[in-house]
Amino acid sequence: MSEEKNISIHGQWSSRWSFILAATGSAVGLGNIWKFPYITGEYGGGAFVIVYLICVALIGIPIMMAEVMLGRRGRQSPINTMRALAKEEGRHGIWSWIGWMGVLAGFLILSYYAVIAGWALAYVFRVGSGVIQASDSAGVQAIFSELVSDPEKLLAWHTLFMVLTMVVVARGVKQGLEKAVRLLMPLLLILLLVLVGYAMNTGHFNDAIDFLFKPDFSKLTGGAILTAMGHAFFTLSLGMGAIMIYGSYLPANASIAQTSIIISVADTLVALLAGLAIFPVVFSFPDLTPGAGPGLIFQTLPLAFANMPAGTIFGTLFFILIVVAAWTSSISLIEPAVAWLIENRGMTRVSAAVWAGLATWLVGIATVLSFSHWAFDFNFLGAVKHNGVFDILDILTANIMLPLGGLFIAVFAGWMMKRKHSKEELALNHSYRLWWFLIRYVAPVLVLVIILNLFGLI
Ligand code: TRP
Repeated sequence: MSEEKNISIHGQWSSRWSFILAATGSAVGLGNIWKFPYITGEYGGGAFVIVYLICVALIGIPIMMAEVMLGRRGRQSPINTMRALAKEEGRHGIWSWIGWMGVLAGFLILSYYAVIAGWALAYVFRVGSGVIQASDSAGVQAIFSELVSDPEKLLAWHTLFMVLTMVVVARGVKQGLEKAVRLLMPLLLILLLVLVGYAMNTGHFNDAIDFLFKPDFSKLTGGAILTAMGHAFFTLSLGMGAIMIYGSYLPANASIAQTSIIISVADTLVALLAGLAIFPVVFSFPDLTPGAGPGLIFQTLPLAFANMPAGTIFGTLFFILIVVAAWTSSISLIEPAVAWLIENRGMTRVSAAVWAGLATWLVGIATVLSFSHWAFDFNFLGAVKHNGVFDILDILTANIMLPLGGLFIAVFAGWMMKRKHSKEELALNHSYRLWWFLIRYVAPVLVLVIILNLFGLI
């Protein structure tokens, strides 16, 4: 598709900054504030964090550059972009499967993501009404279990969040998104700093620093390494075409390397701040444990807010910001599917959004039930998981589909594409060689080794 045609169908970012804001909006979400702390807790801290940081630097950043580059060159939904680029490079059409797998992964992720975002939505009202501030840690845990074990309530919040998401998608991702992100992302950062400030005074800040940054490599199981790598993909929104499609709306003259680094650093910073805000609270209540699982932030943050001045206001605002962060992420999870429905099925944006949203909502019910009727335990590489279908969906998408998608993207960008093309698109001087080395050898080999190791193949 020509650049003009793509722009007339989907529009374009008004500047490089809009792209950075939107991509940061996609990257910063529940992954940073909800998932990073709880998986770090489950996998024992320090060593897990180091593997995650290494994966962000050596796999995440080069693959983000590759995704943005492919998107900007193809200028369509990921499926059609990969088809067009494969053709341009004289490669087999099978490469468009990267796009198909991405659409499926995004769809499955959103199905559970929207349920968790629904929890955050529920907490806006719970914290806002002051119920939670009145309780101690046992009370806070009881309120959480009461919410998640009631599928009807969860379904209502899940539905509300899906509607919010699809309204934005139906109106076109670029309208409204830019403004929301520009205002709310800095606010999120400020509130996180307020929380970290509070956490410093709990008397357990050093314990949290030790937990997060002092590696105990004996805790580094195969499951921990795989989860850390999967999380690097998840938190940066990589491996399924979300960043690719945002890149397809990027003006031609923007620097891909610089923008990718800004986005990745901002994303990592938010995750580490979330960790620094949450773990001191965990360590100051004897009945809270780092390995509490998906409920971790819902059982800790309310306690922090209960004990700080103006906690109700800060707490309510913070959960609103979590919802907004989840919102700007969820629209990018479904955008590749919606763009494809518009391009290939001739749907209007509104009906594409309605159909994609309905399908995701329906699959989300499996996650809604995973915390009550459909809950079951299973063992995943040494970690015990309690929430059946939800955990399976999460492991399948974040730990397997995204890294595989990323692997294929790296192989395409590094091996299938002519050097001249990637060089022209990235417009780098000396650092091009570094990217080229990372995307051709380091990233694919690391992903492959970690996955093969999982299946006991090496
Ligand atoms: N990165 C987001 C988060 O951390 C989630 C997300 C949005 C995502 N788009 C994605 C994850 C695409 C994987 C792929 O919350």
